[in-house]
Amino acid sequence: MSSRHEATAQPSACAPSPIYSRIVGTGSYLPPKRWSNEELVAWLAERGVETSSEWIVERTGIQARHFADPDVTASDLGLVAAQRALEAAGIAASDVDLIICATSTPDMVFPSTACLIQQKLGVHGSAAFDLQAVCSGFVYALTVADAMIRTGAVKRALVIGSEVFSRILDFKDRTTCVLFGDGAGAVVLQASDRPGIVASRLHADGQHANILCTPGTFRGGEVLGDPTLKMDGQAVFKLAVNVLDQVAHEVLGAAGRQADSIDWLVPHQANIRIMQGTARKLKLPNSRVVTTVDQHGNTSAASIPLALDQAIRSGQIQPGQSLLLEGVGGGFTWGAVLIDY
Ligand code: UT7
Repeated sequence: MSSRHEATAQPSACAPSPIYSRIVGTGSYLPPKRWSNEELVAWLAERGVETSSEWIVERTGIQARHFADPDVTASDLGLVAAQRALEAAGIAASDVDLIICATSTPDMVFPSTACLIQQKLGVHGSAAFDLQAVCSGFVYALTVADAMIRTGAVKRALVIGSEVFSRILDFKDRTTCVLFGDGAGAVVLQASDRPGIVASRLHADGQHANILCTPGTFRGGEVLGDPTLKMDGQAVFKLAVNVLDQVAHEVLGAAGRQADSIDWLVPHQANIRIMQGTARKLKLPNSRVVTTVDQHGNTSAASIPLALDQAIRSGQIQPGQSLLLEGVGGGFTWGAVLIDY
């Protein structure tokens, strides 16, 4: 036996065991003011916008959403979700070395909402940044935090999705203003010797930027272009159903698992028809789809961590179960994360 052969074999036998990341706490927060469809429909009617609760429920499954007061920002909502996740994890904010906030409705152009949450948590020094991938923001942020933990760069991460989409809605456009709500969700991700996050895949295709966008920007102290959300609902719908199925199979393939191994599908909460269509393609019953869209509406990057926290706190999701998180949204962006909880 050549010593050269032995020399190449030995380092792998002594290689450090791989680092994984696990969710060790979740939290969420909804602003107190709940708007039922009936309340929103009546408020819109006073402003000459005609819609109905029946249309909203039939086309989307949404029955209510929460809107933040005008002086409440994404960092305010994200702070409470983060505090609740830290409390659930039994971890002090000072022990976190990374804060990522997924948001498309930040408090300011800069500094980042994550920096403002860090400041409100009263801690200093951890890395903190925002991640902008619209409704896919949380699966993007979770994937980035997982990758940073796996490299050994950080040990504990706060991953937050927080949105005040009510700020960018055009309440004269009935095709969008009835769909969205405000809220925040968060998880604490911690290094572990067992996964945790089993596999994830992220994608984007900027050629579809125009089907879901908020095109306004600033120049010379003035808003340039329309600063409210625009969506070609049917185009988004068709693309979403296809890419969510593709990416689900990609992560399952990467993990060497079948769809029937998924205990809970935790999809982005935009439309019950998209969520149930995704489950149907995976041959999962609707009873295995975590559903909060009826009560929250579409809260963009906050929708998945809100749904996740609600399902964990209600006892739906149990330790040891397998979860598939899936996001899709503006960009066009999409992604999935497979988790052993
Ligand atoms: O979070 C990012 C991902 N976003 C999504 O996944 C959203 C994807 N898209 C959707 O969920 C759906 O396309 C919508 C819920 C946005 C719309 O549902 P739809 O079944 O695609 O309706 P539609 O756009 O085809 O509109 C059907 C009809 C139209 O009337 P006509 O042209 O058939 O006479 C609309 O004008 O419904 C009308 N309509 C409404 N009627 C009452 C549109 N919005 C409303 C409304 N109330 N709020």
